[in-house]
Amino acid sequence: MKTDISTKIAGVKLETCVFNASGPLDETLRDLRNLNNSASSAIMMKSCTIEPRQGNPAPRYANLEYGSINSMGLPNQGYKAYLEFSETLRKETKKPIIASICGMNVEENITMFKAFNDTPVDLIEFNPGSPNTIGKPIVGYDTKAMDKLLKAVSKVSKKPFGVKLPPYFDLGHYQQIADIIKKYPVKFVTCINSIGNGLAINPKTERTLIKPKGGLGGIGGHYAKFHALANVRKFYELFEDKIQVIGAGGVYTGTDAFEFILAGASAVQIGTAFIQQGPQVFEKVQNELRDLMQSKGYAKLSDFRGKLKTLD
Ligand code: SIN
Repeated sequence: MKTDISTKIAGVKLETCVFNASGPLDETLRDLRNLNNSASSAIMMKSCTIEPRQGNPAPRYANLEYGSINSMGLPNQGYKAYLEFSETLRKETKKPIIASICGMNVEENITMFKAFNDTPVDLIEFNPGSPNTIGKPIVGYDTKAMDKLLKAVSKVSKKPFGVKLPPYFDLGHYQQIADIIKKYPVKFVTCINSIGNGLAINPKTERTLIKPKGGLGGIGGHYAKFHALANVRKFYELFEDKIQVIGAGGVYTGTDAFEFILAGASAVQIGTAFIQQGPQVFEKVQNELRDLMQSKGYAKLSDFRGKLKTLD
């Protein structure tokens, strides 16, 4: 039996359902070329802002026993660089190229969405949810701000776009945010950004592990998986599969990817495991997913996607 793990996001074909999350190792053209040379099925670029940013002071990332903490603060080369990178990459690859936009206000987001209209990027992931911008709240937790932003970018975007969401924990919040997203032509949501404002401590030195924000940072990796799965599941149900869901948070193995797809995800992204294990992780997860599907008699993702069983 041939096992097919291809998928489509907003009509764009991906040879496999496993690719990189925006954030780690996707800031420079060199990083993006490395992703092209890896088995990542798409090239997701670093979230960009209007001006280049150095990001937060180091140390701003640390590995933890079961994941990571980061407060990178959106270091990136400014959106104009990513417009150019997309043109360059398009000549070098057939892989889908995804821009990630993270403006600091409505106007900045409009400017960047308009600019990407004229590039070869296939998809845009709108990232209003970074927990790491000093002095800026997590927009995904402010329903009015989300509504305003989505309204504004929907008017100008000619590219299919999705939204990267922070994790939600309260069932009422899922409904509120889904109701807003459904008003606009959002094609997918990515669940989840890192779990905001965790605190990791070194008990020997009695210091925080990272410097920004008094040591607070987004928690990723294995720690994030269970909330990521819950967010995928709830949005899959609330959107009734009319808006796609991409899973992100704690994907290290084919079994992790399988669980996300079972919960309703159309694809998965890899962040912390990419930092910790390098680009080989994409192929490893893809092979393990194929093997697991084969052992279960599944030939393609739609054989089990969303078909999670509960105990009632
Ligand atoms: C960062 O650069 O701070 C991470 C990006 C994000 O959390 O969205």
